[in-house]
Parts: sequence; structure tokens; C-alpha cells
Amino acid sequence: MAAIIDDVSRTFSEYLLIPRLSEKKHITNNVSLKTPLSRFKKGEKPKLSLNIPFTAASMQAVSGENMGIALAREGGTAFIFCSQPIENQTAMIKAIKNFKAGFVRSDTNVSPQTSLKDALKLVSQTNHSTIAITDNGEYNGKFLGILTDKDYWEKEDDFSKPVSDFMTPAQNVYSVKVGVSLNEANKTIRQYRKDCIPVLTNDGYLDSLVFRKDFIAHSDNPHELVDDEKRLVASAGINTHDYKERVPALIEAGATVFTIDSSDGYSEYQKECALWIRKNYGDKIIIGGGNVVAGDGFRYLANEALLDFVKVGIGGGSICITREQKGIGRGQASAIMDVVKERDKYFSETGIYVPVCSDGGLVNDTQIIIALAMGADFVMMGRYFAMTDESPTPKISINGQRYKAYWGEGSNRARNWQRYNEGVISGAMKFEEGVDAYVPAAGSLSEVLDISLSKLKATMCNNGSLTLKEFTENAVLTRISEQSFVESGTGNVVKLNANVNV
Ligand code: IMP
Repeated sequence: MAAIIDDVSRTFSEYLLIPRLSEKKHITNNVSLKTPLSRFKKGEKPKLSLNIPFTAASMQAVSGENMGIALAREGGTAFIFCSQPIENQTAMIKAIKNFKAGFVRSDTNVSPQTSLKDALKLVSQTNHSTIAITDNGEYNGKFLGILTDKDYWEKEDDFSKPVSDFMTPAQNVYSVKVGVSLNEANKTIRQYRKDCIPVLTNDGYLDSLVFRKDFIAHSDNPHELVDDEKRLVASAGINTHDYKERVPALIEAGATVFTIDSSDGYSEYQKECALWIRKNYGDKIIIGGGNVVAGDGFRYLANEALLDFVKVGIGGGSICITREQKGIGRGQASAIMDVVKERDKYFSETGIYVPVCSDGGLVNDTQIIIALAMGADFVMMGRYFAMTDESPTPKISINGQRYKAYWGEGSNRARNWQRYNEGVISGAMKFEEGVDAYVPAAGSLSEVLDISLSKLKATMCNNGSLTLKEFTENAVLTRISEQSFVESGTGNVVKLNANVNV
């Protein structure tokens, strides 16, 4: 007879934290969110720790180079998606490694013939009002001029005219040459009282832009996740099919952290893949994998595949239909509690700590907090990051609201053949494991993160903790009844409709 687990599958929203004593030292400024990303022996330090416990999923609609750069700058890491040709993925890794703080690749570019109307359409998609004009409309074309919102009048000008009629032409724009330091570029900005200056190659092609508003932000960023040479850490998703070609190319491009991307990771394929990378590249490379939902899967990946971290979660993802399609999965809270128990047991038996990542299905900040309180070392999210400006998809307007497209890696759209290959027969997908959807646009990554991290730190203080380790050790959780769930919302008050202007 099949084994039946006694308890039902539970989710994070079924739990609340009971506050513990907050001492005077428990203030958010004293909280550290540092957390291990790789296995370590008792008494030793991990090869790499995240400075915030957030990672972005290896998905087409989430983790491109912009997310890779932005999240590393905040102290986390984004796994560049592997459902793309190897050369495209390596180009993204290179862009992250080549990123120099303060030098921004222009994402709002048009050719001089583009109408002002079309240029402004682009502005509404990128949310960046400085438009670079290049001969071919590309970010690295011959630089011809710059257009900002000071160059045209909303009601007065004829928007069907080309941008060349409005732009400040190249000869009148102060610029600097590739190779200057950020300090020198900022000096030029200050000297000529500009908001932005272009950085040009010797023959006049656009390399990047430097913005005055970034100066303060870039001058001091203590949480950046950087390597020994102070370059941003670059991470990549990989699969168990083409890793012998993909991994060497990614390592050559500068990637040092990998996650084997699969909906079900309790497999010999993951072990083979991880051991192959270990054998060829040694211990310096960080390899994570999964996903699993129970202790035995964790132990296999930690002990046999020697993974650096193990991801937990099947079927909880916002775009995921794995549970209804294949009947596999587990409530995310039950899965995390089971795996965390096994991680701690493994640690006490072997003296080796293997971090656990809670992947998918986190629908709000509270659930992130509960996942970390239950013992996840860090979280991985797709939807959360897909909503931000830095995800690779353009904003679109639906019924006056702004959205961004977000689709699962197991959806027909992503056609991630390797990851969901059981569903694919001779190039045709037999069934999908993910859906194609939209999420509301939420603003810049740093704004969104700022709110989540503030809440997390505040809860840690309520819990009498200054580190994530203390947070888990001190955590006392209570299960809530349906009635207390209702009580948790607002009660007996008249709520203003969100659309009402107040
Ligand atoms: P989210 O944060 O709830 O959006 O979940 C993101 C996670 O869902 C990813 O990190 C993957 O583990 C998982 N995932 C991504 N694409 C699919 C899919 O198509 N089907 C099932 N799970 C997916």
C-alpha cells in the first residue's frame, strides 16, 4: 500500500509568528540579512553569502542581465535563464561581469527619423525619460544626440515630427570617452550642470550613460554582492541536458553560481550533472539544485550530489500547474519544515551545513517572512521580480492599469524543452506545466525590495533577532484557524475602494 503522510499539506498563510522579547538593541539598523549561499563545514565560513536572502528565478520573464545587475547591486542574485541559446546566456553573464557602477547601458534609444510620438511610446514602456538618438536606434549605434522631456512641449509641439527636430545634437552635448573613471564622469556632470552625459567610444559610438541622480546611489552601496575583484557576482540556471557545453561557456563568461533548473530534482540526472561540474571545476563553483519537497530528496542532493544549496518547492509557483497536471507537489510550508528538519539533522550528523532555498509560491511579504522564520536560508521568486522595471518584459496597459507579462518556464511560450522534457515528444509539447499571464507593474526593484526588507527587519526585531539564524532559532509559530484568518484582515470598518482618490 502507498505510504500516506499523516498531516495535510500546509501553506505559509496558515501560520503566524508570536512576538518574542525585543531588547533595546533590536532596532532595524542593527539587523543583518546576510545568509549562506553555499555549503560549509561547522566552524568555517561559506564560500559565498548573500547580503539579502532573495534570489530571482531562472525564468525568461524574470532574470535577464538587467535583473542580474540590479539584484546583485542590492545584495542578492538572479539566475540568468537557461531556456535560450548558450551564446545569448553567456552574453548576459558577460554584461553583468562588465557592469561598472554608474555607467548605464541606455535602454531608451531611437533613430533620428523616429517620430516624437513613437519615441514617447518607448519612454512609457521603459519609464526612462532620457532618449539617446543613434544612427540605427540601437544602444551602441553612432551617437547623434539626446532628447529629454525639456526638449518638447506636451501641448504645443507636433508629435508626428521626427525626433531629430527636437533633440540636442551630438556636437552640443557634453560627453566623456570610454575608460574615464566614474569620478571623472561625475566631475563633468557637475561642471556643466547636466542631468546626464553620454560615454562615447573614440569614433563616436554610444557606450553608456552616466546620470547625476545615480551619483549618490552609486557612491556608496555596501550591500553589493561582489567577487574578489569587486565585480558583481553572476549566476545562471542550467539544465541536465546540455551542461557539458553550457557550463564551460558560462564559466568562461564569468558565472560562478549555478542552479540546476528542474521541477523535480530528486534524480540521478542532477547528481551526474553536479558531480561532473565538481570534477571539472572543483569547489570554487557554487552549484545548487532541486526542486525537492521532502527530507529524503534533500539528503540525496546534499550527500550524493554534493550540492551547495537545495531548492524546495513543487507546484506552488504562481504560474505553475504542475500539481494539477501531474499530481506531484506539496504545500510549501510542509515541504520547507520537512527539509529544514533534515538539513539540521544532516548538519548535526556530518558537521556540513547545506543551505535551503524556498522556491516559488510566495504571494506577499508575510509569506517571505514566514518562510525565513521556518528556516529557509533564502527565498527564490519569479512573480515578485517579474513585476519590477528590471524584468525583461515591456509594460503594457490593460484597462488603464500597467502590467508586465509573466509566464512559466513549463509553458508553451517558454518551450523550455530540457526542463520539462517529459511533456515534450519530438518537438511538440504534450502538456504544459506553466501558464502565460500578466502581473501588475510595481516600480523599480530597489523600491519594491526596500518595502519587503523593511518589513522583514521589523518582524525580526519583534522576534528579538538581529540575524536570520537567530530569527529561526527564536521563531515560535502558531497555526491559525479560518476564523483567525478572517480576524487578521480589517474588521468592522468601512474600507475605501482602492480606486477612490483621497
Ligand atoms: P513564483 O515566485 O510563485 O512566481 O514562482 C517561481 C518559481 O516557479 C520558479 O522559481 C520555479 O521553481 C517555478 N516555475 C517556473 N516556471 C514554472 C512552470 O512553468 N511550471 C511550474 N513551476 C514553474
